Amino acid sequence: MKEFVFATNNAHKLSEIRQITGSDLRIISLNDIGFHEEIPETSDTISGNALQKAWYFHDRYNKNCFADDTGLEVDCLDGAPGVYSARYAGEACSFSDNVEKLLKEMGQTENRKARFVTVIALIFEGKPYLFEGVINGSITAGPQGEGGFGYDPVFLPDGYQQTFAEMQATVKNSISHRGLATKKLVEFLITVI
Ligand code: IMP
Repeated sequence: MKEFVFATNNAHKLSEIRQITGSDLRIISLNDIGFHEEIPETSDTISGNALQKAWYFHDRYNKNCFADDTGLEVDCLDGAPGVYSARYAGEACSFSDNVEKLLKEMGQTENRKARFVTVIALIFEGKPYLFEGVINGSITAGPQGEGGFGYDPVFLPDGYQQTFAEMQATVKNSISHRGLATKKLVEFLITVI
């Protein structure tokens, strides 16, 4: 069975992808192979960061690997926080600091359209491939729900009555940006292994 390294230390993302791939592929984490370096993310685009992380690992281990990067793009903020979603409210900020800043920046703005974008960069046999997942929605007036993480309490996906933080994780994963990008990655991998 072919092995792929997922260049992340996020246990939640790892279990999510292992659920989707089942027993078809062997997905290894950075932890599994004893890689504990901080991987730089200095690009000003989501795809640039995903590629940077995947190449950084590949350059050192020369193994098939992939990495992801996600941003929340809000129309009335010209696409912010975008690639800076993780540290929108400052370097050591919490998820709730970010949500608070987002709601403050948006104020009472009527156009609350937003989308989550995930790009997964795969380096397979030395060549790069990109897989994108997008979910459109809107930003609520205030936080709703306790589940999930990040901006989930204020993201209402189009066509749903619950924010990501109010939904069952399985429902969120089946429609989410990361879920969609992951499905595209897995469909590709299954054709090449
Ligand atoms: P990352 O590139 O996956 O680390 O995501 C960057 C930032 O986007 C995270 O720190 C979160 O603030 C936000 N984010 C990513 N995915 C989600 C999600 O599924 N729900 C809510 N926020 C997310």
